[in-house]
Amino acid sequence: MQTIAVYPGSFDPITNGHLDVIRRAATMFDRVYVAIARNSEKAPLFTVAERVSLARTALRGWRGVKVDEFDGLLVRYARRKKARVVVRGLRAVSDFEYEFQMAQMNRQLDAAIETIFLMPKDEYTFLSSRVVKEVASLGGSVSTFVPRNVEQALGKKLGGMP
Ligand code: PNS
Repeated sequence: MQTIAVYPGSFDPITNGHLDVIRRAATMFDRVYVAIARNSEKAPLFTVAERVSLARTALRGWRGVKVDEFDGLLVRYARRKKARVVVRGLRAVSDFEYEFQMAQMNRQLDAAIETIFLMPKDEYTFLSSRVVKEVASLGGSVSTFVPRNVEQALGKKLGGMP
């Protein structure tokens, strides 16, 4: 039987921290769906189609990894994909409260879906899509924080350096 996991998020845009978590998840599961939320409450910089395309390019050739988008409840999406596991990255204690609440809510909604947390490499513990967008919008270099295609897309979108 295949082991299947879902790694959900806004991915606005995908960063090297996300890639690190996906790399770890891909060693543990036969298939990992990188699931980009369509109905995220945040006002995104990139459209869903752009986020999907950026993630697909960054993850091209990664075995067992598929980029997808989803709407509605995450646990329902996980069921549809026959995934029993939801993967989330945990960078620091500050992430915990939000992640704990989400994991417990998802458990209430569907007790068969388990959430696991993977810690990215310590060099990515400070990294977030929000910080990357802020640095890029102020003309700072984000080349060590995001894949090249994302760096270029940020440059285009924000009119900063490519
Ligand atoms: O990268 P993010 O923005 O922290 O990801 C949050 C996300 C998309 C994983 C979360 O908002 C989510 O699961 N949304 C789907 C709606 C849902 O299932 N809500 C109930 C669980 S709190």
